Amino acid sequence: MRDFREDFPIFRGNSTIYFDSAATAQRPAAVHEAMRAFNDTVNANPLRGLYDWSVRATEAYEEARSTAARFIGAARPEEVIFTRNTTESLNLVAYTWGEENVGEGAEIAVTILEHHSNLLPWQMLAKRKGAKLVFLECLPDGTVTEEEIRSKLTDRTKLVAVGQVSNVLGVENPVRSIAAAAHEKGAVVVVDGAQSAPHRPVDVSELGADFFAFSGHKLMGPMGIGVLWGRMELLEKMPPFLTGGEMIEQVTRDSAVWAEVPHKFEAGTVNASGAVGLKAAIEYIGEIGFGVIMEKERTLTRLLIGEMQRIPEVRIYGPEDPQAHNGIVSFNIEGCHPHDVASVLDSEGICVRAGHHCAQPLLAHLGVSSTARASLYFYNTEEEVLRFAEALRKVRRWLGYGT
Ligand code: ALA
Repeated sequence: MRDFREDFPIFRGNSTIYFDSAATAQRPAAVHEAMRAFNDTVNANPLRGLYDWSVRATEAYEEARSTAARFIGAARPEEVIFTRNTTESLNLVAYTWGEENVGEGAEIAVTILEHHSNLLPWQMLAKRKGAKLVFLECLPDGTVTEEEIRSKLTDRTKLVAVGQVSNVLGVENPVRSIAAAAHEKGAVVVVDGAQSAPHRPVDVSELGADFFAFSGHKLMGPMGIGVLWGRMELLEKMPPFLTGGEMIEQVTRDSAVWAEVPHKFEAGTVNASGAVGLKAAIEYIGEIGFGVIMEKERTLTRLLIGEMQRIPEVRIYGPEDPQAHNGIVSFNIEGCHPHDVASVLDSEGICVRAGHHCAQPLLAHLGVSSTARASLYFYNTEEEVLRFAEALRKVRRWLGYGT
């Protein structure tokens, strides 16, 4: 099989074990090269200039939009809005669709598994509007049951926000069931795809989403570029989020006519080189194939969890089935603070995240304040997993325990 690691400059001649891809994925050379080519040949302000460089910068930017649209099965490229990241995408919906459609007494439903990015915009919206935020709770393994969905969505539910895959437990939310139940109640469905889009094929309409958000940097693209997809009939009715340059048809002293979607939502100079990098990352995924990516992640996760389960002091959170972890394994070691665990692992050249993972309500629900988290991508190796397990076995001793 092809050695994917060769594609990543950061791994060349470097034995660091990078197990933090749920936070940010590493970038293949193809992404750097695409961005360099843009910067070295056509860098100019897109969507404005009438000269060659600007026209070509615009073309590159719009091609990236088409690529992102195909990647998630959007009906039209115009349904893709470029943002900075998932967080901004979700805030955009809250401050536009939410502002216009959520009123006093309405209900907004989220799952307890949500990242703060898919919680705080709705918490704030509910406060501004006198609406109620309703939580779909999960079982200890992260499952949100059908019964829970049906019992929490009501005729007052206006919006349901759900992460496709939890950044803490790796568990997949039943988005299709949630979307079907939400639509029965006339609610719109916002899907946070930050942890799913990098790892599996996504088709937004098959998923039942009305809005879908993801970040470039988690799928090997650059930081600072993200996507919000929305159904055109919703986007057309929404007011702009930010106002300023290039998002208008006409401005007078006291009024303005907004540009068509998507430009209505892309005020100011856009991140064209970021979009070009994202396009290259999506093409790179296409070259590898999700089949290969998913199979590799499954094999590595099975091995990782199997090795961790052999260490009696390790507690793993989330589903029993390693396949249901989607490469994300949150854990604690008895008697050790996760920050200490992460520091000891760092001294062994292993990168993991430790803390609340921007999901404090979920951690409170699970009865912990923090965990360590190993998150894998297809470029990790079985040898890395074994080295990680070996280091994990030593952590308690290094922290002063006998074993
Ligand atoms: N959302 C990213 C994570 O879970 C940063 O690590």
